[in-house]
Amino acid sequence: MDRLVSLLGVDSPPRYLIALFTIPVLLFALYHHLLPKPIPGIAYNPSAAKSLLGDVPDMLAEVSQTGEFRVWCAKQVRKLNSPICQIFIKPFSQPWVLLSDFRESRDILTRRHREFDKSSFLSDGMACMGAFHGIYMTDHKFRANRQLIQDLMTSTFLNGHVGPAVYSKGVELMRLFEMKGRLAGGRPFSVKKDFEYASLDCMLEFAFGRNWVDTAVGEQLKVVGGLAEEGLVVPVSVDEPVEFPLGEIVDFLKSVYEAPEIVEKTINAIMPKLQTWWWSQQGWYKKIFEDKEKAMKAQVAIGIKNFQQGKIETGVEHMLMREAARAEKEGREPDFESQVFRDELFGDIVGGHHTTSGAMMWLTKYLTDDPTIQSKLRSVLHSTLSAAHQEGRLFTFEEIRHAKLPYLDAIIEEMLRINAVPVTREAVVDTTVLGCPIKKGTQVFFMSNGPGFLSPSFPVDETKRSDTSRLSKRANDSWDESQDLARFDPERWLVRKRDGTGVTADDVDFDGAAGPQLVFGLGPRTCWGRRLAHMEMKVIIAMLVWTFRLERTPAELSGYGGLEGIARVPKKCYVRLVKL
Ligand code: HEM
Repeated sequence: MDRLVSLLGVDSPPRYLIALFTIPVLLFALYHHLLPKPIPGIAYNPSAAKSLLGDVPDMLAEVSQTGEFRVWCAKQVRKLNSPICQIFIKPFSQPWVLLSDFRESRDILTRRHREFDKSSFLSDGMACMGAFHGIYMTDHKFRANRQLIQDLMTSTFLNGHVGPAVYSKGVELMRLFEMKGRLAGGRPFSVKKDFEYASLDCMLEFAFGRNWVDTAVGEQLKVVGGLAEEGLVVPVSVDEPVEFPLGEIVDFLKSVYEAPEIVEKTINAIMPKLQTWWWSQQGWYKKIFEDKEKAMKAQVAIGIKNFQQGKIETGVEHMLMREAARAEKEGREPDFESQVFRDELFGDIVGGHHTTSGAMMWLTKYLTDDPTIQSKLRSVLHSTLSAAHQEGRLFTFEEIRHAKLPYLDAIIEEMLRINAVPVTREAVVDTTVLGCPIKKGTQVFFMSNGPGFLSPSFPVDETKRSDTSRLSKRANDSWDESQDLARFDPERWLVRKRDGTGVTADDVDFDGAAGPQLVFGLGPRTCWGRRLAHMEMKVIIAMLVWTFRLERTPAELSGYGGLEGIARVPKKCYVRLVKL
């Protein structure tokens, strides 16, 4: 500049004048550079694209009240009225894409896994879970872990080891409900913690069998049993809820509770990796993972002893067996002390307990609020498990396992459909979705709580679909979108075999492909534990309806507000139980 000025024969302008001119230009260029960059052809909120914070202020205004980010996402889809839209949620990053079309979502999840894999924003948020396979891309580490746990979702393991344990945990839970119901004297009480603890105990049995002794429901039985003797002060009004004291659970169980809370907060953090590092320096965080390590090491040590004595029953023992077989094949010593055992099992326990207990709470609420569905289910259970009913006893695990209960399957499916949390994937190459360009690294949300699920689908131009999607059979031809899709109506999932209104296995078949469903994800990264989750819901909800009549609770204790985390769980879950 100085040279140019002297060549032109003029004096050099003062530096402050140069700065005065260039700094605003640079700042303006930087501002423009940092503004959200909409993906061409994909709908977005125009005002968000003019703000450095994108959609964040609008999102926070709502989510700080409701706690439901994915519900806010579904609202954007409706507002923008398009099967594909984008939101600007992470400032200075690529937009997030919301895809609201079941057929295209299914196609991507099941057929296009070379283009889309596990989302890195989820993996970053789950960094505290260590070597758990759920955080990996679909790579060699993922496959190696999956190999270690390959026995744990087989029918042999589920029916032989897990099922009887789930059954006995269910019986314990019914005992707790019975004690609480008696003490409450017709007043409502919350069963949120009870379901959470029962589900946690199921996961502990799944992983450790009887080697784990400090059960969560066991502690509640002790506390509530003690109350029965001392007497409990209950409110005067029969509509006032009774508050039961909680029994203290051991530190490892607290860490199972607290780890997913960390995951949830980290996923929502602006800088998840930095957040994880910062927390990992703090005492409360260290304690959670020290408690986890201590308990997991002790359980793996018991497992090794059992395995070496030829006893292979629990989840840990099956994993050790797999490692031994793998080591032998590879001509090396087995690595039983590997961190992978501890992190993998911990991840499975965390992933399985919160989700399934939330699902059982929703089921309890729907059955409470719809006495017709509840009594129809009860009479189907009585007629299907007729020997147990006639003998005036609870069905056995073997009886419920073999029972064909399409109506219960449909109730579970419908509850899952209405409360699904959208799954996500990350584009691992530059590609297209519904004809729109999607850059490598873009996060795609497969919306399962808006149009196409809870309201009619958007029309989609067939020529915009991928080749595989176009060639695939049209989804849910018989699914009636003219009905109110937000209503809980289990019979949508049933195919009638003969005239009438009956819902036993002689009358109807359950068709899990009847409608759109993404609650467990789809494809190679679909929920690993769905078979266990189904078994647990089926056994425990059948027991609940068999043992009690669920009576309506006051309006202020009811409602369908949810809390989003790993899964969507009800804010409140109160019951008013009548023993049958
Ligand atoms: C009603 C209960 C449950 C629901 C709604 C649920 C939902 C989900 C969803 C949506 C995913 C992500 C799928 C995807 O990205 O495509 C997932 C993954 C996973 N779930 Fe579940 N889940 C449930 C129960 C369980 C149980 C009981 C276990 C353990 C026994 C479990 C273990 C896992 C694991 C390990 C993954 C990671 C799979 C992977 O990354 O490949 N889940 N689950």
